[in-house]
Amino acid sequence: MRIGLFDSGVGGFTVLKKVVELFPNTSFIYLADTARLPYGEKKSNEIMQIAEEISSWFNDQSIDVFLVACNTTNAIALDVIKNKFDIPVFDLIECVSSTIQESRVGVLATPSTVKTKAYTNAILNINPATVVIEQPCPEFVPMIERNNINSNEITDIAIGYLQPLLNQKIESLILGCSHYPLITPLLNEILPSTIKLIDPAEALSLKLKLF
Ligand code: DGL
Repeated sequence: MRIGLFDSGVGGFTVLKKVVELFPNTSFIYLADTARLPYGEKKSNEIMQIAEEISSWFNDQSIDVFLVACNTTNAIALDVIKNKFDIPVFDLIECVSSTIQESRVGVLATPSTVKTKAYTNAILNINPATVVIEQPCPEFVPMIERNNINSNEITDIAIGYLQPLLNQKIESLILGCSHYPLITPLLNEILPSTIKLIDPAEALSLKLKLF
């Protein structure tokens, strides 16, 4: 089996890492579109165009399964991608939304993802009583790409993003951008240990395993 996946940069490697743990002998093709990074503040039509181009490229790579390892593209252009392929397509948002147990859930994501409310809609679709609070984090991706993940600067920015979610008494927090698992240690330092961090790549890889 050959699996294809992509992201705007290093973020998709967090998804690849989880999937490789469950499929150690599988072959993967990973595309990092660093030329056009970051996706997180691009307009929907740009993201749809990018999704179309990348899906066309993967269509020529003889893959058996495609993973949408970028939440921003997932939120905006999943239909574009699904329409391009005749093979199974797995996405982060749908996979993780069906696993949410808590009644108050925070989501950290790019501004473009938050604008779509894709996480809120997907979670409420499964459990309408859930309270979902989405927080856009425009500064994270450029800092993570520069490996600026251990500074006072990113700590202060992270506190600013997390405080509104803490004020809302969230019980779990979805890392709704595939770059964010790379700052899990920083987030864990700021968050109380009672708040469960959720990496959507885990739900995606488990679903893939069942496939
Ligand atoms: N890692 C991507 C995501 O999951 C895109 C981040 C970006 O390029 O802004 O949303």
